[in-house]
Amino acid sequence: MLTKVAVLGAGTMGSGIAQWFTQCGMNVELSDNSPEALSIALEKIHISWDKLAAKGKFTEDQVKKFKKDLTTQEQFSKDCDLMIEAIVERLDVKVDVFQKMSAHFDEKTVLATNTSSIPIDAIARELPTTRKPKFIGLHFFNPAPIMKLVEVVAGHWSDPKLINSLGSWIAANGKKPALCKDGPGFIVNRLARNYYGEPLRIVNNENEKKSLEVDTILKEVGGFRMGPFELMDLIGIDINYSVTQSVWESFYYEERFAPHALQRKMVTSGRLGKKTKAGFYEY
Ligand code: NAI
Repeated sequence: MLTKVAVLGAGTMGSGIAQWFTQCGMNVELSDNSPEALSIALEKIHISWDKLAAKGKFTEDQVKKFKKDLTTQEQFSKDCDLMIEAIVERLDVKVDVFQKMSAHFDEKTVLATNTSSIPIDAIARELPTTRKPKFIGLHFFNPAPIMKLVEVVAGHWSDPKLINSLGSWIAANGKKPALCKDGPGFIVNRLARNYYGEPLRIVNNENEKKSLEVDTILKEVGGFRMGPFELMDLIGIDINYSVTQSVWESFYYEERFAPHALQRKMVTSGRLGKKTKAGFYEY
């Protein structure tokens, strides 16, 4: 069903998504409006494949093929089967990009957004009527090549057959699809708000060291793989903060979804987590 996939945005998510689709045997085109981000992403993916080959996860021949199958492009080929957008989490920018993508790609191309919090219908409503059924949400989790869950999000106009067949394709390729309807935070990001919100309220501004204690308790007692502060650092505190704001706004400012001043403080001071080498932890 899929052979050629285009990924727009070569940051944390786009690079991981491109890596995973390549590992599934696809020809993948990766693009970004920052040539620097694009070359950094390609280098990182190659390093990751070399490491996986050294560990015996892939053969040298497989890695050789992956490196050939994943290319970076200024402009995508028109005949891609699927295009996934993983750029900045801003409605105006995404709307603009999808207008251009809709005009650029063949009619058959499925257009998908990896947004974590923007209602997909808000993007779809600006698309031509014929394109709307082929517009969906494909929400991967970080790190995309490893995390099994993918939310396959159906908007108001999405073709149910497409949602089901993409869900099956994703399952057949080793991930766990969760088919869901468009709605604030879909499933995971709605539930996860309290995994961040409550710990932020516990730590408050009083003592940032407390974040380490909270992480330790949730891992050792709660059995979570990662504590909330480690996870915010991994996701990017700026990204996580804007998801919180968006879900909060969508629920008409219900207190249980409210962002915390500590998130804003971290963002204002540029401590965004792993990507800036400083967040709740130093890297
Ligand atoms: P990022 O900041 O790491 O990467 C975004 C990339 O998009 C950058 O390389 C940037 O140069 C590029 N970009 C921005 N505007 C562009 C445009 N108009 N055209 C082409 N490239 C453009 O962001 P990240 O974390 O990868 O997030 C991307 C999307 O994925 C967002 O919508 C976010 O909400 C979503 N997401 C993020 C997750 C995370 O853990 N970081 C998890 C799941 C979804």
